[in-house]
Amino acid sequence: MSAGSSIPVDPMTPPRPRAPHFDPVKNAWVLSRYPDVWAALREPHLWPVGGKRQIQPETRDEAGRLKQRAEMLDALSASRLEEWRPRLEALTHSALDSLPTNRPVDLFAEFTLPWGLALAILVTGADPADSPRLADLGRRVFAATGAESADTDLRADAAAATAELERIFATGPIPMGEPAFVALSQTLPRLLANAWLALVRHPDEFARLRAQPELMPGAIEELLRYAGIVRRVFRRATANVDLGGVRIAEGELVMLMLASANRDPEQFPDPDRLLLARPVTSHVALGTGRNSCVGAMLIRMAASVATGALTARFAEASFSRVIEWRTGSGFCFPASVYVTLR
Ligand code: HEM
Repeated sequence: MSAGSSIPVDPMTPPRPRAPHFDPVKNAWVLSRYPDVWAALREPHLWPVGGKRQIQPETRDEAGRLKQRAEMLDALSASRLEEWRPRLEALTHSALDSLPTNRPVDLFAEFTLPWGLALAILVTGADPADSPRLADLGRRVFAATGAESADTDLRADAAAATAELERIFATGPIPMGEPAFVALSQTLPRLLANAWLALVRHPDEFARLRAQPELMPGAIEELLRYAGIVRRVFRRATANVDLGGVRIAEGELVMLMLASANRDPEQFPDPDRLLLARPVTSHVALGTGRNSCVGAMLIRMAASVATGALTARFAEASFSRVIEWRTGSGFCFPASVYVTLR
């Protein structure tokens, strides 16, 4: 299936977790229960492979990886976030104010995508005058993460766009400016679109958040749990690992089903319901442990600002079109989220 095609079943509901098993087609172990996925994410002998967000995985230069990780965490520290917050609030409010209420709006194309670009420019210190060119480069890089990523032309184009972004951000204020720019301008808008789709599909929860904005920190965790867009990540065993009642032999591949773990009923009662006041328990939407997402604090801050502004500005958002889903490279998100705002 290509990234451009629609799939009939709502894939927001991931497969139910089950005991660890070996999938001979994928030639990989599949871990999907919450405790197994949690333990695997924290297991030092399971090394991240595949996908883009890995820091020097092939060389297994652990010291270099940790240094780069620390530099990036430093560049995205709590004090930097507080510097960005008022500017993000201002641009979020003005963008929401300009959304029309007399026709259905695609929250993804008309809000979260341009909003993510503005945030990416703010964080990377890029020149706002370069927005159109940067947006195009980010779009081309992200296109290769789709299900059609085997397309060699698409991959070559993404590699050229990546090289161009690396050149642009080589001297920026944050290390790894290229992946940070793509994550903020492409991945985050899709995550927020999926989270808002969940919110719009639960009008009582939308109203609850509007009435009780103090629920926001827990609500963001619940939205990440329920609507996280990373379905799975991969690991390669660097030694024999005993986990969840099975032995994973050195060299074997392991799939960690993050979305399934986040719907494990043993960990999250009534897992397919979005309950914003749910007691907060750690989800794995942004990983955990040694390879957890270094953008996590920034994502939480940005999602809180945007979701708080949405629910404060509009009393109601009614869903108005059939959803087309996009999948690929472990991602799953809606192609558009058409709603009528009031
Ligand atoms: C909103 C969109 C994002 C999502 C859904 C996301 C998700 C994730 C997940 C699930 C992981 C763990 C991967 C694994 O365990 O194999 C991860 C790792 C990572 N993320 Fe994010 N991320 C996002 C945005 C960002 C941003 C904005 C940045 C940087 C500014 C970032 C930088 C990283 C890095 C560098 C890693 C690897 C950390 C390591 O290996 O030490 N991500 N992300």
